[in-house]
Amino acid sequence: MTLDSTAGTLALLRGLRAVRQLRPDPLPEDALRNILEVARWSGSAGNRQPWEFVVVRDRDMLRRLSMIEGANAGHLATSGAGIAIVIHPEVPDLDAYDEGRLAERILLAATAQGLGAAVGHFTGPGDTWAASGEAKRLLGIPVEFVLRETISLGYPAARLERTPNPPGRKTLEQLVHLEHY
Ligand SMILES: Cc1cc2nc3c(=O)[nH]c(=O)nc-3n(C[C@H](O)[C@H](O)[C@H](O)COP(=O)(O)O)c2cc1C
Repeated sequence: MTLDSTAGTLALLRGLRAVRQLRPDPLPEDALRNILEVARWSGSAGNRQPWEFVVVRDRDMLRRLSMIEGANAGHLATSGAGIAIVIHPEVPDLDAYDEGRLAERILLAATAQGLGAAVGHFTGPGDTWAASGEAKRLLGIPVEFVLRETISLGYPAARLERTPNPPGRKTLEQLVHLEHY
């Protein structure tokens, strides 16, 4: 890796942000395929790979998913495509941990190709699963599988609103302890 490409890779990693203002234009097949290839190679505890992906491009379905009460995935409505992450549940804390690793890879693979991406969450406040159940019903996902998150993908809109409150991140001084706490 050259110095330039190292700097570029680090900038990609550091600069990843949620992009919730997406254009509904269809995604190129190869961009979507690249994202799914990167997702497929995500690490998981014991290499269980406890996931499957539902790729949603149908505009009506994206709109219906975006409107599910108790979910927080409004950005699916204008996305070019959504990926629903289907988890085969086994060990709850490992499942959620692995899903987070997978989701982050999907976000990075999208961003690396000039696309925007945002996480949508389908468990409600108090950890209710009603919204997840509704999304699974719409997508025909078996009830025994877990649907916690979708990823909205698309070309970024001309005007982006960044996540408020707080606008950025804690400083390293706030986060890092050298040698001991
Ligand atoms: C487990 C998890 C659930 C999230 N759920 C949502 C969500 O439902 N809707 C959403 O727009 N963003 C969601 N996000 C994205 C975060 O809100 C976002 O990454 C965070 O606020 C930082 O903003 P930034 O990525 O723009 O820097 C989720 C992120 C994680 C890790």
